[in-house]
Amino acid sequence: MRTLSVALGERSYPIFVGQGLVDNAALIIPLLPQKRAAIVTNTTIAPLYLERLSDALTKLGVAIVPIVLPDGEEHKNWQTLNCIFDALIDHRCERRTALIALGGGVVGDMTGFAAATWQRGAPFIQVPTTLLAQVDSSVGGKTAINHPQGKNMIGAFYQPRAVIADLDTLGTLPDRELKAGLAEVIKHGLIRDADFFQWLEGNIDALLARDPVALEYAVVRCCEIKAEIVALDEREEHVRALLNFGHTFGHAIEAGLGFGTWLHGEAIGAGMVMAADLSHRLGALGSTDVSRIERLLLRAGLPVIGPTFASDRYLELMSVDKKARDGGLRFIVLDQIGAASIRSNVPSTTVTSTLKARSG
Ligand code: NAD
Ligand code: GLY
Repeated sequence: MRTLSVALGERSYPIFVGQGLVDNAALIIPLLPQKRAAIVTNTTIAPLYLERLSDALTKLGVAIVPIVLPDGEEHKNWQTLNCIFDALIDHRCERRTALIALGGGVVGDMTGFAAATWQRGAPFIQVPTTLLAQVDSSVGGKTAINHPQGKNMIGAFYQPRAVIADLDTLGTLPDRELKAGLAEVIKHGLIRDADFFQWLEGNIDALLARDPVALEYAVVRCCEIKAEIVALDEREEHVRALLNFGHTFGHAIEAGLGFGTWLHGEAIGAGMVMAADLSHRLGALGSTDVSRIERLLLRAGLPVIGPTFASDRYLELMSVDKKARDGGLRFIVLDQIGAASIRSNVPSTTVTSTLKARSG
């Protein structure tokens, strides 16, 4: 097992990456203020892993409240969030009752938001079971639900007490979900680590084949990069915004098509090609690098062209996104592979040119 750390002073926490960790309740017990915890999961993950995690904790004397949500991005909303609160109230849970998120980014984001607001803040633990959640969403404390018009519009920064990433759980992940997770893996190389991007070019087939050594390396490297960025800028005042590379476009795709139509990682795949194209139009990134990025995303089985909306519709959707600031559009641009920066007041004509070239 590898142990990393997110250095946030008194709110610092470990990230454990390894095999068989769902059964390793000893990692969780020291984090629980009382011998009771709620495990929040969904209808797909519950039959696979809920009993194992519950049994491991129960054997060490922890009473478990299981909370099973409907599966899907389209359920990342108030109604489903309220199901968590209903269950916590029905079982007379307290502020000291920890909430354990067992699942992908949807379960993790919703459970984190529930933990942030349940009795003004309950202990929260992430047990991510998708590649996307292990490399990105479980780390850093962004929690949220969607608004019908905007992705992750309602939420809180609320850090977990630990992230426990069991690589074995990736064995049951559908291929489409594995590929979606690779979008965020590639993002980490693009914004921060050219050597890692090059490693991905050499190892993308091994990742698609679920080679355990390659998967462990990718999860650990992404967690290292994300932990470093979050420690520098927990609340996205500056450098953390780089993690949103491709997301202004990607979130517009998700909201415009209706949440759950394209997977988050798929939207980010096409969104990163758009963001690379925009970087080139703004004079930052060479055309050879744009093609290199597109090629790797294609090899990862991700979309590299956005869906057909009118440019005005894209711009309207993007103006709702959280990355808009003072009414102007802000984008994360690549200066080269491995280095990104923030650009404000990008002319809408340039964005429109990118949209015309990279969608439909
Ligand atoms: P997801 O949570 O919907 O999970 C994908 C699918 O895989 C679901 O159907 C789920 O039930 C299933 N699944 C999960 N684990 C499984 C397993 N081990 N075996 C079989 N099936 C399994 O999607 P995701 O890609 O994990 O997360 C996407 C979400 O994460 C989006 O809502 C996105 O906004 C959010 N996100 C958040 C952050 C953050 O910093 N908080 C970062 C990136 C993405
Ligand atoms: N996924 C963006 C962030 O965590 O900041």
